[in-house]
Amino acid sequence: MRISSVASDYVRLKVDSLIMFCDEEGLKTNPIVKKLNDSLKGALKRAFHSGEFEGKLNQSVVLHSVAGIAAARIVLAGIGSLNKLTDDSYRQAAGTVSNLPAVKNSRSAAFFFGDGESAGRASAVVEGFLLGHFEMNDYKSKSDDKSDKLDSVYFVAKNKAWSHQIKDAIVRGQIVADGVILARRLAAHPGNFLPPRKFAEQAKSLARRHRLGFKALNETQMRAEKMGALLAVAQGSHEAPRFVILEYRGTKKFLDPIVLIGKGITFDSGGISLKPGLDMWEMKGDMQGGAIVLAALVTSARLNLPLNIVGLIPLAENMPSSKALKPGDIVKSRKGKTIEIISTDAEGRLILADALDYANEFKPQAVVDIATLTGAALYVLGYAGAPILGNNGKLMDGIRAASEATAEKVWEMPLWDEYREQMKSSIADLKNSGGKPAGTIAAAAFLENFVGDWPWAHIDIAYVDLEKGGRPYTPKGASGFGLRLLVELLSGWRKLQK
Ligand code: BES
Ligand code: MN
Ligand code: ZN
Repeated sequence: MRISSVASDYVRLKVDSLIMFCDEEGLKTNPIVKKLNDSLKGALKRAFHSGEFEGKLNQSVVLHSVAGIAAARIVLAGIGSLNKLTDDSYRQAAGTVSNLPAVKNSRSAAFFFGDGESAGRASAVVEGFLLGHFEMNDYKSKSDDKSDKLDSVYFVAKNKAWSHQIKDAIVRGQIVADGVILARRLAAHPGNFLPPRKFAEQAKSLARRHRLGFKALNETQMRAEKMGALLAVAQGSHEAPRFVILEYRGTKKFLDPIVLIGKGITFDSGGISLKPGLDMWEMKGDMQGGAIVLAALVTSARLNLPLNIVGLIPLAENMPSSKALKPGDIVKSRKGKTIEIISTDAEGRLILADALDYANEFKPQAVVDIATLTGAALYVLGYAGAPILGNNGKLMDGIRAASEATAEKVWEMPLWDEYREQMKSSIADLKNSGGKPAGTIAAAAFLENFVGDWPWAHIDIAYVDLEKGGRPYTPKGASGFGLRLLVELLSGWRKLQK
């Protein structure tokens, strides 16, 4: 799909679908909507009055063969009330129209985008449209997908200077959407198709394509690194673990890197502390944090961000077997701290512990980890957002600002001493589960033991990683939540330092 901007009068544009945004007051205040209503002899006003289309967010109406308009049809996309309008209203509205049969069956579509709209809004529209349009068809023997008909999407503006100005915003929107789709696709691949070794191969080929440094430690190398916690998780499976290290150098200047760490459990059965069967299949997505980190490095490279970034992805499969880790076992982490295993299902924090310690090798200026870490996240923020925890106000502020801009919602939880106490073991330095209370916070209190002398933030995406119903720009399946958040955080990094 080609997306480009053109300077033209919208009435003369010959496309299959001309898409216009309309707010709830549009009929009164928007001259173009008024004109449209006149040429439709008041039909739009009647639609408003009947409640069929009132400009509400994610409402839409398709008008065919409108007199005086060269496009085959006009699609009106509701963006809601003006006083609640944000970039995400446009992202959602664009996602909604991307799924309309009229748009899917079009070969060409154009967004009429009033002159002088902010460039950020154009990026949001591109993101919403591409993300809403995405389908995972790799495993369908026959594709019933009509979405590939669409080959050209235009942004129309009357004003040449402005149509030129939004070019970069369109490219940025495309690169960011590609990043989300890359993460969604990786997370959607099942455990049998993407075990640690295959994930590492994918990372290697992406690294080559985008000129990222790449290394993957195998079991022998992990043993040499004393990554006892990661190896303990992997020991029950015949799928060999990997530890992927990606490096993006976006500036020649000497600049300490930002280290991103993503949980890469390619399938989490729970191990000997076996999970119930009903929803166990969802645990094929327990590597979504790792997918986000890989996609974030690719996206940073494509955006030429002026930063140095390292991505660390510990990869393992968590399985029960006679060789598997058992409750009661004690393992020694890379840092030297000993961990009593209470539940083999609390495996994510074990592999992250060794990755956090390994981050020290890079003298990081900050570390952010992202993980499908705790089922308890469901009781913190539900499906609406991700709990975050950390040790540095500036970094948390940066994440909050990125969250506002991307509409990927986060909320900070407190790391109090009570939770640190909860993770102490009577026989080892730590235990990997502190029981039911505040499970999401307790997991972060465990991770904190492996954090060095640097700003650190932890993002728990356990219940935002998988979309169950389908939302305007998030179809059913892996959501890719966190990619836009991290890329936004990195894009604004220098502001954060001041
Ligand atoms: N991958 C799971 C967390 C998870 C659960 C993500 C449901 C998404 C949906 C993690 O490895 C896990 O099993 N955590 C345990 C920890 C407990 C044993 C302390 C949990 O949350 O039950
Ligand atoms: Mn688990
Ligand atoms: Zn897990």
